Amino acid sequence: MAITGKVALITGAASGIGRAVAIRLAADGAKVAIVDLAPADDVVAEITANGGTARGYRADVSNEEQVQKAVAQTETDLGTVQILINNAGLHPDPPTKIMDMSTALWHKTFAVDLDSMFFFTRAVLPAMTRSGWGRIVNLSSASVYAVTPPGGAHYVSAKAAAGGLATALAVEVADYGITANAIAPTTVRTPGALHLGGDAMLEAVLATQAIKRVMEPSDIAGVVSFLASDDAAMITGQVIHADAGSTRVN
Ligand SMILES: NC(=O)c1ccc[n+]([C@@H]2O[C@H](COP(=O)([O-])OP(=O)(O)OC[C@H]3O[C@@H](n4cnc5c(N)ncnc54)[C@H](O)[C@@H]3O)[C@@H](O)[C@H]2O)c1
Repeated sequence: MAITGKVALITGAASGIGRAVAIRLAADGAKVAIVDLAPADDVVAEITANGGTARGYRADVSNEEQVQKAVAQTETDLGTVQILINNAGLHPDPPTKIMDMSTALWHKTFAVDLDSMFFFTRAVLPAMTRSGWGRIVNLSSASVYAVTPPGGAHYVSAKAAAGGLATALAVEVADYGITANAIAPTTVRTPGALHLGGDAMLEAVLATQAIKRVMEPSDIAGVVSFLASDDAAMITGQVIHADAGSTRVN
């Protein structure tokens, strides 16, 4: 496996999609750094118990200084970050219409969902480019490509930019053996999604999907694993629509 021994940094991996990605990439052989506001001791313990290598770092991904420290600590403890998964994000919870939205909420959503991707990408690139191999994956959302319930404009706008960032970045890093892509999932059964809409929302979303099964975090982890592999070496600048057939985008 091409990623054996490589260092993967996953943001927001104490729970949900990020947690599943950390466990999957560790099973693929990567040394995993988990950066989250919340403690990730149980994820680290699970990976370690299965023979993998993992470290947890507490940081607010929207804080530039904390991001730089987390990346520097990862490089010291584990080595050069060659796989970066920009996963941490806030859901539009509770949904808030533009007319009712404070500037603070708009900025906070962009800070956590988008600025974090810029901060981490910029922090890992010096060593990643020197290494001559890299994978960067941003979590976007199918809500960018579908008509979704009102109250998510801040979230949808930031997630649209996550795809744009990957596409623009891909051109800048291609000469260094680095790919940059985004994944746009439909609703996935995670603590964040369940807090937003519960099982009722997951059931309602099924009606929009061709595949009538609720998406699980491991489904997205599988896509990340593929994008991180050498089999995906020629896929870059793309938004991968891992959405059970809920959108059709050309
Ligand atoms: N679950 C879905 O239905 C779905 C669908 C499409 C896209 N996504 C995206 O996938 C990503 C993961 O979603 P999820 O549902 O697993 O989320 P979640 O809410 O279940 O977990 C998010 C994790 O990010 C961490 N986090 C939040 N803010 C942070 C901050 N400022 N600094 C550091 N860590 C922070 C949380 O502590 C938590 O561990 C998000 O970017 C989300 O927008 C999710």
